Amino acid sequence: MNDTQIIKDRTDIVQLIGEYVKVKKAGINWRANCPFHHEKTPSFMVHPEKQIWHCFGCGKGGDIFSFIQEIEGLEFIEALKLLAKRAGVQLDTHKMQVDTSQRNRLVEIVAKASAFYYHILTVLPAGENARKYLRNRQLTEQTITQCQIGYAPEQWDLLTKYLLNKGYSIDDIVASGLIIKRDGADTKSGRGLYDRFRGRIMFPLSDAHGTIVGFTGRVLIETENSGGKYVNTPQTLLYDKSRLLFGLHKAKTEIRNKDLAVLVEGQMDVIACHQAGMMHVVAVSGTALTPEQVKILKRYTNNIAIAFDADAAGQSAGKRGSEVALEAGMNVHVIQIPKGIAKDADECLKKNPDVWFRAVAEAPGLLEWYFRTVLIGIDQKNPAAKQQAADELLVQIKKIPFAVERDEWLKRLGNELSINIELLREELKKNKQAVLAAPSNQIVPVVPVAGRAEPFEVLLQEFWSLVIKFPENYEFFRDFLNPEYMSGTIFFTLYENAEKLYTKDQKLVVNNLRESVHQEGQENPVDLLFLRPYKNFFDLTSHQAKLELEQLLNRIKEQWRKRRGKELEREIAKAEAEHDTGQVAKLLHTLQSLSS
Ligand code: UTP
Ligand code: MN
Repeated sequence: MNDTQIIKDRTDIVQLIGEYVKVKKAGINWRANCPFHHEKTPSFMVHPEKQIWHCFGCGKGGDIFSFIQEIEGLEFIEALKLLAKRAGVQLDTHKMQVDTSQRNRLVEIVAKASAFYYHILTVLPAGENARKYLRNRQLTEQTITQCQIGYAPEQWDLLTKYLLNKGYSIDDIVASGLIIKRDGADTKSGRGLYDRFRGRIMFPLSDAHGTIVGFTGRVLIETENSGGKYVNTPQTLLYDKSRLLFGLHKAKTEIRNKDLAVLVEGQMDVIACHQAGMMHVVAVSGTALTPEQVKILKRYTNNIAIAFDADAAGQSAGKRGSEVALEAGMNVHVIQIPKGIAKDADECLKKNPDVWFRAVAEAPGLLEWYFRTVLIGIDQKNPAAKQQAADELLVQIKKIPFAVERDEWLKRLGNELSINIELLREELKKNKQAVLAAPSNQIVPVVPVAGRAEPFEVLLQEFWSLVIKFPENYEFFRDFLNPEYMSGTIFFTLYENAEKLYTKDQKLVVNNLRESVHQEGQENPVDLLFLRPYKNFFDLTSHQAKLELEQLLNRIKEQWRKRRGKELEREIAKAEAEHDTGQVAKLLHTLQSLSS
């Protein structure tokens, strides 16, 4: 909607916020005591040019709309109305109404389609083969009814015709995602429209309230032209695949009761579990678990048990999912069906339900699982294998935020591999404190970022601006941050202070970092970095930021190696010219260690 931009243009953010708190000019920004948490020194910043606000104390921030939402306790639409009125903007309410009623119409279309597919499957001769197939897979009639499973016959425009006959508009049926419009389709006659789902068993996708928002269709007979095994509704006004959890509306009560969510890989697995009476089970459809889905699950529980399918794809999807859940602070357990019994929950339930129920009940914690799988059958006499196992497990141990727990796992690793624990502790610390140059007790402010920066410094700038926006990620990256990357740049002091504060607080508190580099009468470097967002930071989740940070760090490392390599080559040439063989050997050694 364009109204929001007009409202933004007409609203002076400093004045708006000034109506709620006292703001004071500080450099190019304005500052105030944060209205959202108690504080004595102002860490709430308003930036008029970018039209954003941010509090370094409590981490809240956003634009004029989110400020009003936050301070007045309003939904977005209400904040929009309030600000529109203030800015003298006539909202296009007609358009807003059309939007909501299109949503209603799409809900109706999808429900009609679901009933249509269900009718075909359960009653019509065209559903005969699909009925047989589902019987073979041991789905009961009760399950088929409860899940509203259906069938889309192998025809091009059965549903298209049905929906057009019911009087729905072409725009709406296309917007529902069920019907596809060919290029150059005649939208009057409906020619050039065809059904997305053909020859498929249809599983409705419902939101948390049980409203059907889309479908996933499993091919009945796989042929060369049948496309993927599963086809899903595309992103629509109703269906957002990154938010939907298959089976959640049926599972949510039991998830809360059991204080545990079980995540399986496919919809057939969910259906089989529910049919077997295990109700606290959900799945994602064809994606890795997303932060949004985790956020939704966290409304019901903080515990998740993820089933890792036996195949390689299942293992890696499981690992990725567990990262995301871990990231959000969930307790992660791993369900592993014993090797050779079955590939997924559905198969396991058919073969031997007890095995599945036990696998869920006895699912080990994520780290325990890593230990078991990495250490299984390891050859204690093979140093390389031991090193690899230790490396793999140390990566996981590093992620534990609690020192005592971390050390317990280190001890166990030491015992199992008969390695000296001190060695492991050293290994864990590696890179962390490496070459901290001349430790100064005095905290020196960094020079503000200014002028045209070198590409390498741009990378550092992006890295640090993301760290400041997502300080919870610092803990992870500090281990990999070699101080030499920053030496000679304006980021060195920032790094030094961040390390000092981290050691003191056991986490990075951005407001403390800000204060540590504060210099009277000067723009705070942390503020400047904050205003140099890497990409659109409003859209990033903490997890996405972590991935970005990882990439940035890799590029920083690579560039640093190149630069350092060139430097060393020059020094070597110089030493050679001076016939200083000792120095040449030393430099060559350094050069070699660069690439390891
Ligand atoms: P699988 O290939 O393991 O299928 O894919 P499955 O769940 O065991 O299905 P059945 O038992 O053969 O019917 C696991 C999940 O990955 C997604 C689906 O959500 C599926 O359930 N997937 C798979 C797709 O989205 N598209 C595909 O083409 C295949
Ligand atoms: Mn399966």
